[in-house]
Amino acid sequence: MAMSCPLNRYLLLMAQEHLEFRLPEIKSLLSLFGGQFISSQETYGKSPFWILSIPSEDIARNLMKRTVCAKSIFELWGHGKSPEELYSSLKNYPVEKMVPFLHSDSTYKIKIHTFNKTLTQEEKVKRIDALEFLPFEGKVNLKKPQHIFSVLEDYGLDPNRIPENPHNIYFGRWIADGQRELIESYSVKKRHFIGNTSMDAGLSFIMANHGKVKENDIVFDPFVGTGGLLIASAHFGAYVYGTDIDYNTVHGLGKASRKNQKWRGPDENIRANLRQYGLEKYYLDVLVSDASKPSWRKGTYFDAIITDPPYGIRESTRKTGSQKEIPKGMEKCPESHVPVSLSYHLSDMFFDLLNFSAETLVLGGRLVYWLPVYTPEYTEEMVPWHPCLRLISNCEQKLSSHTSRRLITMEKVKEFENRDEYSHLLSDHFLLYQGHNSFREKYFSGVTKRIAKEEKFSQQ
Ligand SMILES: C[S@@+](CC[C@H](N)C(=O)[O-])C[C@H]1O[C@@H](n2cnc3c(N)ncnc32)[C@H](O)[C@@H]1O
Repeated sequence: MAMSCPLNRYLLLMAQEHLEFRLPEIKSLLSLFGGQFISSQETYGKSPFWILSIPSEDIARNLMKRTVCAKSIFELWGHGKSPEELYSSLKNYPVEKMVPFLHSDSTYKIKIHTFNKTLTQEEKVKRIDALEFLPFEGKVNLKKPQHIFSVLEDYGLDPNRIPENPHNIYFGRWIADGQRELIESYSVKKRHFIGNTSMDAGLSFIMANHGKVKENDIVFDPFVGTGGLLIASAHFGAYVYGTDIDYNTVHGLGKASRKNQKWRGPDENIRANLRQYGLEKYYLDVLVSDASKPSWRKGTYFDAIITDPPYGIRESTRKTGSQKEIPKGMEKCPESHVPVSLSYHLSDMFFDLLNFSAETLVLGGRLVYWLPVYTPEYTEEMVPWHPCLRLISNCEQKLSSHTSRRLITMEKVKEFENRDEYSHLLSDHFLLYQGHNSFREKYFSGVTKRIAKEEKFSQQ
């Protein structure tokens, strides 16, 4: 019979940003570090307070070394819907678990954290005084305490209806903070080499976490652009590699994306970006290559494929083509124009991406990518499918009233066989996601309609 580890309770304080991305991030990281998410915890939805049951503090610490969605984690000593409930729950917490942190040689401090309400200093002191019954024997040290304890009060999510008393009160020992500061320190604003579609730092880290990227992994981005996604993976210790169809982007040439700069300067490239963050040793290479015609020998190379394919809004969706593929009427182009650039339908692009991932990912490896959708027509069945890839999560980020992009995470669950190459074409998904082909037209028709509506409104 398998021995099961006793689970300890921890309180996660989540950031109130990118709400849909939080659960898949925490689940992915827990599965990376050996913890498991218990299904009843799925109900936390929008709340910033999540109770986790995990086997060890080490797992909690590892989780916090990676998460950008959680702010802090606490060992949960007590929880109640009123102060009385909290105190009785604290009285039931085993003293032997408290003593190592409260003995006479230790120093400590108690902090009060409220969500959706501000307390006066006097109210905070009252709450601290009410905890006198706990066997604190150490000395208070506000500047550099050995142990920090927190009372966390939850006043709900509605800023227009703040209740007199909190819905929930928690007491815990602080263990670690998450990696929220990475969002600032890796901000695109301060980055050496950027483009029009450089991925926001916070989302890049979320993608690497959904992809379960770990040390010594090999991570590939087939639509690498300025390499924003490679940076996040390299930060977590993975070796990174990318391709892009655009020669100028790969070589850091051409027009600059910054306002006050006309042309890209010397050394504005992906390698220099990694150098900026002390991550150059994780740079494998970036090549000019067309994702529709991958030049890889058969084999499994990548632990994760993390990418943001073009949607055709701020960058074109294109692929190289041969004279044979040139559309009718264009035949007169001179020979020197080969390879020509053909438009690359979104549905074909996702079909190629899934197939390529199914072939080249290691078993258990993950594909993480953005799928643009026209929201009025979107249904879950549209999400591209492949017999070798299992859907792990699908999170929406709204782009406008009628468009959004969905972060899709898939895991390779079956070895690729030749017959898998076209089997997903037989499914209804393929027909459904062909609807994505007109995403660009729908995006602009929506934008045009909205501008027209706004103009009409302002003239009234
Ligand atoms: C949304 S951008 C990627 C941005 C990138 N994540 C970053 O942080 O800069 C998409 C990229 O795909 C490239 N692309 C378009 N068609 C392609 C193709 N057929 N093969 C490879 N790259 C392609 C574009 O040149 C563009 O750089």
